[in-house]
Amino acid sequence: MSSSTRISIEIPGSPTSLVVARGAIARLADTLTESLVSVNDRRVLLVVDRNVTALGARAAASLAAAHAHVSAIHLDATEAQKSLASVDAIWHAALAARLDRGGLIIAVGGGLVGDLAGFAAASYLRGIDFVQVPTTLLAMVDAAIGGKTGINLAIPGGGLGKNLAGAFWQPKVTVADADALATLPPRELRAGLAECIKHAVIAGEPRFAALEADAERLCAGDAAALDRLIPTSAAVKAEIVSRDPFERGDRAKLNLGHTFGHAIETLPGLDLLHGEAVAIGMHAACRCAVVDGLLDSATSDRIVRLIARCGLPTTLPPGRVSAEEIVRRMGFDKKAEGGKLRLVLPRAIGTVTIEQGDHASGVAAGIAAIGAGR
Ligand SMILES: NC(=O)c1ccc[n+]([C@@H]2O[C@H](COP(=O)([O-])OP(=O)(O)OC[C@H]3O[C@@H](n4cnc5c(N)ncnc54)[C@H](O)[C@@H]3O)[C@@H](O)[C@H]2O)c1
Repeated sequence: MSSSTRISIEIPGSPTSLVVARGAIARLADTLTESLVSVNDRRVLLVVDRNVTALGARAAASLAAAHAHVSAIHLDATEAQKSLASVDAIWHAALAARLDRGGLIIAVGGGLVGDLAGFAAASYLRGIDFVQVPTTLLAMVDAAIGGKTGINLAIPGGGLGKNLAGAFWQPKVTVADADALATLPPRELRAGLAECIKHAVIAGEPRFAALEADAERLCAGDAAALDRLIPTSAAVKAEIVSRDPFERGDRAKLNLGHTFGHAIETLPGLDLLHGEAVAIGMHAACRCAVVDGLLDSATSDRIVRLIARCGLPTTLPPGRVSAEEIVRRMGFDKKAEGGKLRLVLPRAIGTVTIEQGDHASGVAAGIAAIGAGR
């Protein structure tokens, strides 16, 4: 019998929790009941990533056996599909399944489907209950925790702006079953490690050193290493979110690597995964912090080395992207305030700061370090 971890996230008005347990999807109805989410005689809409239909069916069977009235909608998990049209499709599936205010939407998939289903749940009938069943490493440790939901928008001048419309809507519970990772492509697993590195930089030396010790095992999908990582990395996010659920302060530290990362993630022709863009973005943030005199080069090198050891890219493909285009896209980041970029920069392992103001030379150095051209 493998172990199970439950982490409570005390958010005023919407307490939530995270359950990490192998086999939890097959026992989903029990896991939800133990988390005080009733399923008996309840109308439930599963929003399922098309690549995990078998997991969706497993969840549906458990819920149906516990007398839930289960329907499902299957979606493609692409950034282009992270759109209002997909949210509309979920709303209509909820109407067709006669979900009323007592209904429940459950996302079964990666961060993309979780963000979409969460936004649909936040807005359907002005908000109904929502549960996250993440099936990627990235979603288990990050995206499915903390209640940020949303969609991408087309930005003026072309391109997709990431997560520019959305809502805070806490899941009643997040159920992370590492058995789901068995089918996850290795590249997607490594992408999830980027957010784990981010959490370790924020959390401090013990977590960072533990990740350094396990890097190759994690890349190879070693089950014991993943079982060590998932609850500890998820706990970093849970702890920050419970202190600052609406990102009025410290929660912004979780955006380390994301201001640069979001600007490159949707660049056409690069096909970067979110975690890969964050990995490259963390490299840019490290270089920016060194040039601004906030971080020493040795620590920057240590972080970038761990990113590379986790099989993640640290630079863009050469000659493909101009620095100007990255700066342009960074200007549309929703973390920009009053026309000024808000940057999250590391000062040491365990110390990350939110910087506002003129960081033009650091930003230029960060963008140059990741290989953008003039
Ligand atoms: N809400 C938040 O706080 C938050 C945080 C981080 C990222 N995000 C968002 O999450 C998204 C990225 O999430 P992601 O990395 O989980 O990627 P994803 O949801 O795009 O999934 C990645 C790919 O893996 C497939 N997949 C998922 N689970 C699988 C499994 N078990 N087996 C086989 N294939 C599987 C998907 O179909 C997809 O092709 C981005 O849109 C990002 O903006 C949100």
